[in-house]
Amino acid sequence: MIYFPADPLTPGALLPTPAVLRSLPSPAYMISEAALDYDMSLLREVADRAACKMLLAQKAFTMPRAADLVRKYLDGTTASGIFEAKAGHAIGGETHVYSPAYGEEELRELLSFAHTILFNSWREWEHWQPLIRTELAGRPQSERPRFGLRVNPGYSEVETLIYNPCTPLSRLGMTPEAFNLGLSRWDSSIRRGPEPSQCSEQPYIDGLHFHALCQQNADVLERVLERFLNHYGAFLERVNWLNLGGGHHITRPDYDIDLLIRLIERLHKLCPHLEIYLEPGEACALNAGLLLATVLDVDPVSRNVILDTSAACHMPDVLEMPYQPRVWLLDNPAAEATVPGSTLRLSVSVTDRDDLETTYPGCLRAAVDGAERYVLGGPTCLAGDIIGLYEFNRPLVRGDILLFGDMAIYSFVKNNTFNGIPLPALLWLNSDTTVDTIKNFGYRDFIERLG
Ligand SMILES: Cc1ncc(COP(=O)(O)O)c(C=O)c1O
Repeated sequence: MIYFPADPLTPGALLPTPAVLRSLPSPAYMISEAALDYDMSLLREVADRAACKMLLAQKAFTMPRAADLVRKYLDGTTASGIFEAKAGHAIGGETHVYSPAYGEEELRELLSFAHTILFNSWREWEHWQPLIRTELAGRPQSERPRFGLRVNPGYSEVETLIYNPCTPLSRLGMTPEAFNLGLSRWDSSIRRGPEPSQCSEQPYIDGLHFHALCQQNADVLERVLERFLNHYGAFLERVNWLNLGGGHHITRPDYDIDLLIRLIERLHKLCPHLEIYLEPGEACALNAGLLLATVLDVDPVSRNVILDTSAACHMPDVLEMPYQPRVWLLDNPAAEATVPGSTLRLSVSVTDRDDLETTYPGCLRAAVDGAERYVLGGPTCLAGDIIGLYEFNRPLVRGDILLFGDMAIYSFVKNNTFNGIPLPALLWLNSDTTVDTIKNFGYRDFIERLG
């Protein structure tokens, strides 16, 4: 048994021996029970200290095998639609769901089991009133879902535009203007519960939700909260709960947990009745998984290495975010491959090899100060299916096994079979370092999805 090198997994997680790792299928996502336990137990601790509720945002990570851990530590799950909601309901706890717009059958089904349903606009709320009333008719209050509205605080500090929910063109949540506009008609539907004089059959909104963070620390939340309170603070008296969304990187070592707790305490002081929710995705499974991959070919001249894994198919955020994952060679996991200078991306206007050398100095040199330099890429036809430029402490050879770090989040939930590239297996690394194969994917999975 060897400890996981440095910090690709959260502290205390152990790796099986290299011999065991070599016997596993490739490519494969290996999810660590010990690392998930570390992340989720820390989130529980934070929730208890802050007296708030903590949900798993399944869009980042969800896996039936992890259900016991989610049940043990978290208050429930949040979903982006009917399928994730069903998966969350099967896990247990509170099932929250938000979608920018619902389909009729989807909403009908959600109304039968969801704990909290969020609407994106007054328009959606208005459109679905007849369905909601029909579906909930005669159902006691205790068995009805709660309803909330997603609002857009109009402020965020997310630099990557496609991950910023508060751009001027955002369709995610109501801007203060849209929210205020709808109030002329719907003001009375925001309330903490039916008044004795009011018909309890009438659906009402008793919570607000915003999501404006991405991989950020509590100082950003403080600034977003200030804007949120400026616009919507007056309504907190009139609702039972407030959801502060996801993007809180709570399980990262430098996260300021004390500040987060102070911010939530401040909200409690402002509105003692208010129930506060956080719904992180990444933080629940940060550094809790590796992607194992094998070197298929090494070109000693171009320094291109083709792997049996693909950025485009198996780690799409590497291209979308974009970012360059950390990499280790299996036979020397103490030595992480290094990333020389800038991240290699084909989005720049590189037209020839001289250009490439200018943009990424040293990129094409085989070895720099004894370190072997390679461009790791996938086996697809996409020219930009490049994971990045790395330096290893020895030449790579066919059959080498690489470990990609932090691959539990936004990886297998988003993967695809472009070019017919096989999906990586799903492996579960038990705390005692034994490994269970959860699923191998084959041709059948590929062809059945294509009809
Ligand atoms: C509404 C909502 N909640 C929660 C999350 C989870 O965010 P993260 O995985 O960054 O914590 C997201 C991510 O996009 C989101 O859109």
